[in-house]
Amino acid sequence: MSSKLMIDKVQEGLCTKYLGRTILFSREVDSTNQWAKELAMYGAYEGTIVTAETQTEGRGRFGRAWISPTGGLWFSVILRPNLRPAETVKLTFVAGLAVAKVLSNFFNLKVETKWPNDVLVNKRKICGILTEMNTTGETVNYVVVGIGVNVNFDVEKIFPRQLRRGVTSLENELGRKVKLEELFKALLEQMDNLYELFRKREFGRIFDEWKKYASFLGCQVQVTSPAEKINGLASDIDDDGSLVLKLEDGTIKHIFVGDVRLEAK
Ligand code: BTN
Repeated sequence: MSSKLMIDKVQEGLCTKYLGRTILFSREVDSTNQWAKELAMYGAYEGTIVTAETQTEGRGRFGRAWISPTGGLWFSVILRPNLRPAETVKLTFVAGLAVAKVLSNFFNLKVETKWPNDVLVNKRKICGILTEMNTTGETVNYVVVGIGVNVNFDVEKIFPRQLRRGVTSLENELGRKVKLEELFKALLEQMDNLYELFRKREFGRIFDEWKKYASFLGCQVQVTSPAEKINGLASDIDDDGSLVLKLEDGTIKHIFVGDVRLEAK
């Protein structure tokens, strides 16, 4: 599909207040987050979205590579919330919840959220979110929320064997392809609704809903952070977005950065 047609189809009747007045599409970029950050630096408006058919250097958290073939939904949203950096981190939950809601409402799949930035279907990762921000002191200049959803491709055919484990795509789960532009539109509308709550600082509502999809809560997990590996019971997500971990000796620890893995029973 040509880029113009793709954008026309997404913008046709798009029912949003903040997101998607400008949508830019490219066949191939290094990373849509990189592209969005450059545009944001030059003053792009809140709600501007960039998307690409493929990314040559798609990136995940901790600088990991993000495999981005044709058939996926790779996009980044530029936001300029009037909030402090500590609150802006919560946009990852806004995006994750939007994806979880759309995938479960549209396709009736078993969708889960996994702290802090993953969405899983049938226990496998289908979506990752990379939130990056630019600040001056306590002022947020812009935030780029990058969302990658594995949609119309077969993970087995695309991913190297060692990276396939625990990854899935909509095509793998549904056994068919879906209309990318319809999914994109639904995601933007859902994220727009949740962004409105975020702007009103109704974080409690966002976290409460996000937690409904978070089946890892109440389970023994291992958290790998840049500094250490810790085991404990994932007992809650605090209103600041941190993972509340109950250690074996009963100590409560709040983790702000890391990856969660369920411990084998
Ligand atoms: C992760 O799970 O570590 C986050 C992955 C984020 C991938 C998306 S794809 C669109 C945007 N552009 C990037 O380079 N990364 C994000």
